[in-house]
Amino acid sequence: MIYPIVIYPNNILTRENKQVNEITDELIDLLDDMRETMKAHDGVGLAAPQIGKNIQVAVVEISDEFGGLFELINPEILISEGTDIDLEGCLSFPEIYGTVERAETVKISYYDREGDQMEVTASGYLARVFQHEIEHLAGKLFTEKIIERIAPENIEAYYAEEEDQDD
Ligand code: CO
Repeated sequence: MIYPIVIYPNNILTRENKQVNEITDELIDLLDDMRETMKAHDGVGLAAPQIGKNIQVAVVEISDEFGGLFELINPEILISEGTDIDLEGCLSFPEIYGTVERAETVKISYYDREGDQMEVTASGYLARVFQHEIEHLAGKLFTEKIIERIAPENIEAYYAEEEDQDD
């Protein structure tokens, strides 16, 4: 099932999100629905409050190159290192994009759908998406951290300039 996305302003996005204590059939279905919803809206991450569920669950899937699908239950950041500034958007803020400072590398822990505790270390874009989604679960929104707004029509130019700087 594809859920509608909760759009800002809506206090569902800033409420407390409860820890998951048990992996139920409903939670497994929700994880499947969250992935389907994220893909249907062309997202790379989705936190449960964004579909109206105030629980500590998020999904992240950039591409196979970035490790495929991550289903994060009760995720936590264990270690943050370095800093990196890059462009971000959010399905709950259509048309709003901006640069945000994040840690370059994070080590996170979470429970997967089998109830196994996992640890993953990520850098760059994957680390950025993990941090964005884990902040949703603390009721925090990326717009509070925007350094510079980038208009949607300037996003291509922003990435072109980034690539030039990396060469
Ligand atoms: Co978001």
